[in-house]
Amino acid sequence: MAPASVERMTALSQEIAAKTKIITDYLTANNLDAASYDVNGLAEFPIPIEEGETYKARLDLIALTKELHDIALGPSESVRYLAWDLPLQGVNNLSLQAIWDFKIAQAVPLDGIISYDDLTAKVKDLNNGLDTPMLNLRRIIRHAMTNRIFVEPKKGFVAHNRSSRLILESPTMSSWVGFMCSDLGLPVANVVNAMRKWPGSEESNETSVNLTYGQDLPWFDFIQKDKEFANRYNLAMAAHGVGEGYSVQRVVEGYAWDRLPEGATVVDMGGNQGYVSFAIAEAFPKLNFVVQDTPGMRTPETIGKVPDALQPRVQLTTHDFFTPQTVIADAYFFRMIFHGFSDKYSVQILQALVPALRPGTKIILNDGGLPEPGTAGYMEEKAMRTLDMFMQVTVNAREREPDDWRDLFKRADERYKVLDVWMPPKSRMWFVEAEWTGQ
Ligand SMILES: C[S@@+](CC[C@H](N)C(=O)[O-])C[C@H]1O[C@@H](n2cnc3c(N)ncnc32)[C@H](O)[C@@H]1O
Repeated sequence: MAPASVERMTALSQEIAAKTKIITDYLTANNLDAASYDVNGLAEFPIPIEEGETYKARLDLIALTKELHDIALGPSESVRYLAWDLPLQGVNNLSLQAIWDFKIAQAVPLDGIISYDDLTAKVKDLNNGLDTPMLNLRRIIRHAMTNRIFVEPKKGFVAHNRSSRLILESPTMSSWVGFMCSDLGLPVANVVNAMRKWPGSEESNETSVNLTYGQDLPWFDFIQKDKEFANRYNLAMAAHGVGEGYSVQRVVEGYAWDRLPEGATVVDMGGNQGYVSFAIAEAFPKLNFVVQDTPGMRTPETIGKVPDALQPRVQLTTHDFFTPQTVIADAYFFRMIFHGFSDKYSVQILQALVPALRPGTKIILNDGGLPEPGTAGYMEEKAMRTLDMFMQVTVNAREREPDDWRDLFKRADERYKVLDVWMPPKSRMWFVEAEWTGQ
């Protein structure tokens, strides 16, 4: 006997098939088209309310497929994607933003139910006496329920479901929601205005974030000014980076590290505290790593620790990648660096590497990227293209398609030769391998 959750999926698929048959039989019998997203398709289903059972079958189908869709996503991805539904798409995530901002998930008991009146009092307490009238809260929560956040098991009483519990219990999910819905809500709505104010800008301080918050700092300097904001951003990025496709294992397996010469040195540029180098070094004992990052990462308070076993082969050092590279190595590795910079600055980073390059030196990038249009599944393409939009919102940077990577290296120096651009199996990140062909 399958678990109830599995049985439910089977039942849903059967009901969906049955409802679909009612609709398609009706359309066929009446020689009618179904609604379609084709450019010349029907915008509305030609089933008037008078058609009783058939009309209802269509409403049922919408609800059933949404349920099956939500189960297939699961609460974690569902909340993550919902937070990505931005204000320009309507008010769909307004209730989610309000839940995060007014700490509503904290006001609902984990076990049991709470009346809207009691909830109103609790929300007031949690928000230092701020008045949010019961009718406003009820409106927010009942809207959120249409997005499968909270339930109302008895009229007038609210309880958690798995989605609201995630917001309550998971700091990364709660930060993702706050960051996307609240911190970036207005900047997203302002992107077009920023594009009008600074046409074609590649500067990281001429973004919609600058316009919205009335300040002229680049993104990272801006968020560092507010510890709570910076913390929320870091946790939100951790929520985004979870999942197999972003794991360090994909970096270890995704590139033929064993093709580098025995005893080769790899410089991990912007390598943070070295955790990616640690993983590669563990898997490839004949490689050495120099992890470079900003001085702020290497103060006595911030510097990470190289595991004892790796100490002879991994060093944590400082280097600004906009300044000429001084460490001569066999390969230079950049993970999650270029997608944060516009072409203008990415070219500068590649040019600063040139003094250290020798014939055959490899440049290895592991980064976000974009598939050729229509070549990835819908969900993957949507996620990558959404991330691309965010790069414009915050830093005027972008994700790149395979040809964009080739153009970038060429613009930096004709002596760079891009050997390959690929997304390894199971990965959500791309590899780009280039070689220095100069002297
Ligand atoms: C998105 S993180 C990527 C970290 C790491 N490579 C990874 O894959 O997790 C970007 C890193 O670049 C570093 N960084 C930013 N500007 C830099 C600069 N001018 N020179 C060197 N590192 C820099 C940051 O401190 C941060 O560690």
